[in-house]
Amino acid sequence: MTHIVGFGGYVPERVMTNDEWALLVDTTDEWITQRTGIKRRRIAAPDESTLTLAGNAARMAIKDSGLTPDDIDEIIVATDTPEMYTPDTAALLQDLLGCRNVPTYDLGGSGCAGFVQALDVARARIAFSPRTMLVVGVELITRMLDWSDRSTAVLFGDAAGAVVLGPDPGRARVLEVVSGTDGSAAGILTLAAGGTRNPFNRQTLESGEYNRLVMDGRRVFTEAVARMSQAVSDVLDRIGKTIDDVSLVIPHQANLRIIDAVRKKLQVGEDKVFVNVHEYGNTGSATVPFALWQCVEAGRVSEGDLVILTAFGAGFHWAAAAVQF
Ligand SMILES: CC(C)(COP(=O)(O)OP(=O)(O)OC[C@H]1O[C@@H](n2cnc3c(N)ncnc32)[C@H](O)[C@@H]1OP(=O)(O)O)[C@@H](O)C(=O)NCCC(=O)NCCS
Repeated sequence: MTHIVGFGGYVPERVMTNDEWALLVDTTDEWITQRTGIKRRRIAAPDESTLTLAGNAARMAIKDSGLTPDDIDEIIVATDTPEMYTPDTAALLQDLLGCRNVPTYDLGGSGCAGFVQALDVARARIAFSPRTMLVVGVELITRMLDWSDRSTAVLFGDAAGAVVLGPDPGRARVLEVVSGTDGSAAGILTLAAGGTRNPFNRQTLESGEYNRLVMDGRRVFTEAVARMSQAVSDVLDRIGKTIDDVSLVIPHQANLRIIDAVRKKLQVGEDKVFVNVHEYGNTGSATVPFALWQCVEAGRVSEGDLVILTAFGAGFHWAAAAVQF
């Protein structure tokens, strides 16, 4: 069995409001609020990077677990905005934290589903051979986006969240995780430049493709609602529970309307669904672990609570986890 023994979360200090976006692109606070529920997001400082964000959340999670960096046996970093192209952010994080020469790897390209997928990988690794794992979800999306594209730029923010997992009893148990991918829907959310198909070069720079996130917003919306609600039902079926047994659902924070639609499909009250999208926007792989940390810090979850985490992202990926406190 996999247990969560430590939680951590970090957001940069700088707050950017919708009104500030309205000074940069043709948008309004009203449009962003009505369509997404987002009011503000955090923007990393120039001297911050994906690695420093991850490091801040990871240090908190390790401290919270009562362990030291020396106790970590393996590290996974879920991110679509890595520190650099190669090597992986997880290797750099191992060094930053002062961990031993333990295996590390990034789970990249899974968009916002990355952290919950990483949780699935980690629990399989722990079941295979008991070990202490650090799993981080982190994004510094605002530095990678096209700031002139109002249809995507206003949606995102920067954050990091982390958990320490182990085989011995801790604050919560990961009971089950389900995840899935529909690769035929890959085209609905892509940043296609920078790979071998279309490498970074003068042409991708001049055409603006290098940072162009292409998104079919309506299709992403529909898929997100269908996949997250199905994933939650599936994970509950696997553990023989129903939505009535659930104390709190922590969904990926992309859009308040998506969260509301999932909530209605699951027939669950507003008080049982955690929302922070108005404060932080969509922080990709960081939304779920950061929200989880916030819930623990704020006493929103307590012993005995069944908590469901769920996320979706580019791929098209989805996942849900059942966590027993
Ligand atoms: C992107 C999203 C907010 C758009 O909302 P929507 O209700 O689908 O918007 P619509 O398609 O009805 O409207 C789009 C119109 O608003 C305009 N628009 C887009 N961004 C805008 C902005 N920031 N401000 C003002 N207008 C904007 C578009 O140009 C378009 O105008 P047109 O109709 O004249 O062409 C919504 O589709 C969404 O959240 N989808 C999911 C995206 C997501 O979660 N992505 C992350 C995945 S991890």
